[in-house]
Amino acid sequence: MTNSSSADPRQHAPAAERNREPILDVLRKALPASGLVLEIASGSGEHVTHFAAALPGLEWQPSDPNADSRASIAAWTQHEQLTNVRAPLALDVERAPWGIDAAQAVVCINMIHISPWTATEALFDGAGRLLGSGGVLYLYGPYRRHGAHTAPSNEAFDQQLRNRNPAWGVRNMEAVVALGEAQGFKCGEPIGMPANNFSLVLTKR
Ligand SMILES: C[S@@+](CC[C@H](N)C(=O)[O-])C[C@H]1O[C@@H](n2cnc3c(N)ncnc32)[C@H](O)[C@@H]1O
Repeated sequence: MTNSSSADPRQHAPAAERNREPILDVLRKALPASGLVLEIASGSGEHVTHFAAALPGLEWQPSDPNADSRASIAAWTQHEQLTNVRAPLALDVERAPWGIDAAQAVVCINMIHISPWTATEALFDGAGRLLGSGGVLYLYGPYRRHGAHTAPSNEAFDQQLRNRNPAWGVRNMEAVVALGEAQGFKCGEPIGMPANNFSLVLTKR
């Protein structure tokens, strides 16, 4: 992650630049044509601004617990002159209230392996309360499948994460889907994405 300059709070995440187009392809099919989309863990804000420009019928609510990320999100929104992106919320999924009562969809990219499992539980709990029947929860990231890594690079990444924080780590997809089912979500077929990642589209029953 890099900043444009000391005076410009916009951050650049090279991975976000690489994966935003393949993710957008999935979102075009998964999201409704109109309504409010809450993005959890927006990071630099490059995803939400890209999606908002491409899908102008939707209103976007970015969020992140990190103040520098929120400054970056607001600066990208202003830079891109987007009118369908709200000011970022200081939202930590583990802390209630979230500051938003309802949304038609929730998007969460690359958070659940870089936070404790309790954050994934809180994500499903909060999303379940925000979304009505038919509402979509979109997850993107690396996953183990049936306990096994899907690539050596993911295994090395998992080890790096656990070295940084033993509570972090690449999650087992089946455990995430089972948690979603228990919270009232039905998960569609996992969608393989570039660089050994997956999209999961879960629909609230
Ligand atoms: C690897 S970054 C991903 C950022 C962005 N979604 C992307 O893919 O470029 C992980 C993000 O998760 C956020 N995060 C970590 N724990 C969180 C929590 N408990 N609630 C909400 N966001 C959290 C961090 O602040 C960070 O912005």
